[in-house]
Amino acid sequence: MASRIVSLKVNGQNEEFIVGALTSLQDILRDTLNYTSVKEGCRQGGCGSCSVIIDGELRLSCLTPVQEVDGSEVTTLEGLNQSNSIAALQQQFIDKYAAQCGFCTPGMMVAIQALLDRNPNPSRDEITEGLAGNICRCTGYLPIIKAVEGVVAEMSGASGD
Ligand code: FES
Ligand code: FES
Repeated sequence: MASRIVSLKVNGQNEEFIVGALTSLQDILRDTLNYTSVKEGCRQGGCGSCSVIIDGELRLSCLTPVQEVDGSEVTTLEGLNQSNSIAALQQQFIDKYAAQCGFCTPGMMVAIQALLDRNPNPSRDEITEGLAGNICRCTGYLPIIKAVEGVVAEMSGASGD
């Protein structure tokens, strides 16, 4: 399998690597760039804990060969951390008890941000569908959905309770 040079913009920084054909974006983000919000759950596309945004689309970094996304812009939770909506979402996760062990939380937040970017006022069904690829073994999902509803209400000026 041929190695080649790949360029990415990750969280606003230009990066360049020599990577093998099957090197995953997850491995580059975690092991080379130290973006540890990108979790290593199943490594086979089933849990959503490795979710990132690539050129505006929610993607699973474990199933994404780096060579396939050469030239793309990649955003992890670290790159979203400065946005107001993530700060509000973090507070909602605290208020609604939406995190327990926290392993799924970074991937959930990335998926929620991707959902709100394409639909700032999602219904409960749309929130559920938007988070369908993200597994949580602790919370039972309802607190997470309520946290999203809370942040949507906050952004639209309602109370969210
Ligand atoms: S680690 Fe990528 S989907 Fe589970
Ligand atoms: S809070 Fe533990 S897996 Fe979601």
